[in-house]
Amino acid sequence: MKTNNNTVLITGGSSGIGATLAKRLSDLGNRVIVCARNEDRLAQIKSRIPSIQTKACDIQDLEQIEALKDDIGSEVNLLINNAGIVQELSLHANADLGAQIKEVDINLNGILRMLHVFLPLMQNHTTAAVVNVTSATAFIAESKAPIYSATKAAQHALTLALRHQLRDTQVKVFELIPPLTDTPMAAHVEGISKLSPDEVASAFIAGLEKDRYEIAPGLSRAARLMSRVAPRFAFSQLNK
Ligand SMILES: NC(=O)c1ccc[n+]([C@@H]2O[C@H](COP(=O)([O-])OP(=O)(O)OC[C@H]3O[C@@H](n4cnc5c(N)ncnc54)[C@H](OP(=O)(O)O)[C@@H]3O)[C@@H](O)[C@H]2O)c1
Repeated sequence: MKTNNNTVLITGGSSGIGATLAKRLSDLGNRVIVCARNEDRLAQIKSRIPSIQTKACDIQDLEQIEALKDDIGSEVNLLINNAGIVQELSLHANADLGAQIKEVDINLNGILRMLHVFLPLMQNHTTAAVVNVTSATAFIAESKAPIYSATKAAQHALTLALRHQLRDTQVKVFELIPPLTDTPMAAHVEGISKLSPDEVASAFIAGLEKDRYEIAPGLSRAARLMSRVAPRFAFSQLNK
């Protein structure tokens, strides 16, 4: 996939990995549009990276996504489904069903809504790609974040199936699998080494350019391997 002269839409591009991808892709000569919910954070990222466009859009809301499509037109040929949340929660003691369902609705249904609206338009381009940002927890579940892990495993399965369904089209399907990364989402995690968002973005751009469809920087590669050769050991190590 070419890494310049694309029109890129990044969900959750106001923070962390999404914001860093926005900067790096803009620097490479792409038109970059980022969307997220919080307008103050969108304004902050716009002032840090004036070359990008920012749009308020909640991926839980199909009407807002339709409005985004009408607003930015049909030029998007690189869609990066990056927005997500993580919650550490109990499935038994004081289980909050509403919080669990919301996490599924953002992390998984959000991607389905984005594909529903943008994929038909992307199929009109001669070069196009969808990128789903999953996680090493797609391969080794983290019991503290059960819904997050489940949605990431589901995103991985969805990505495999989408890639296969689109194999005879010009739309390529990538999966970016970050390990623990130093962003606001992981700010509460201490004592474990984290990749920088820039390191994740560098691996992503190199993988995109070489059509490496599963991009697993840092410890993600080892996590994916361990989940296949020693799944119980890998699970017990992560959940000690
Ligand atoms: N950080 C890590 O250690 C790590 C590791 C593996 C995978 N990942 C994955 O990488 C992706 C980015 O994570 P990050 O660490 O960069 O997180 P982050 O800094 O918390 O950023 C998350 C972004 O998603 C947006 N967002 C959340 N809910 C949304 C919604 N309903 N509609 C639109 N935008 C929404 C947020 O903006 P608003 O709140 O303003 O909407 C924000 O821009 C996620 O998919 C995450 O699961 C992260």
